[in-house]
Amino acid sequence: MAYQDLSDADPAVDRRDAVSSSTTVLVSRRESFNAAHQLHDPGLSDEDNQRLFGKCANLHGHNYVVEVVVAGEVDPATGYVIDLKQLSELICRQIIQDVDHRNLNTDVAWLEGLIPTAENLAIAFWERIREELPEGLAYSLRLWETDKNWAEVRDRG
Ligand code: NI
Repeated sequence: MAYQDLSDADPAVDRRDAVSSSTTVLVSRRESFNAAHQLHDPGLSDEDNQRLFGKCANLHGHNYVVEVVVAGEVDPATGYVIDLKQLSELICRQIIQDVDHRNLNTDVAWLEGLIPTAENLAIAFWERIREELPEGLAYSLRLWETDKNWAEVRDRG
């Protein structure tokens, strides 16, 4: 298809055909929030929590960054896989507004009962994003807890 004779056709329309021909493109949006947590299993003694989680068993805060990646074909009408402003609004509505400046152990109903490691938070965040994304576009979510630590959940890849 890329090598057909395009000499008589409108070049703009031809380019639209080329980009829409089942090429998968990844796009992403990053948002950030600040929150407190402690790695603490309520079923264990304070001593056992300290042994398991070290200083992370104490209440402390992180500047978290969450990045959602969407994968799909480019819509020839818009040139987008997804409007990243809409993805930003989705991340804010489904995650950020509930967790920003909160204690993740006690303040967020949909995190109740979860030890708020980066892994568990990434899974919980991903479930809330994936259910709201258009069919077939969900790819991955990465949560940075610090500049050095992240956890990523993905559907396919
Ligand atoms: Ni921590």
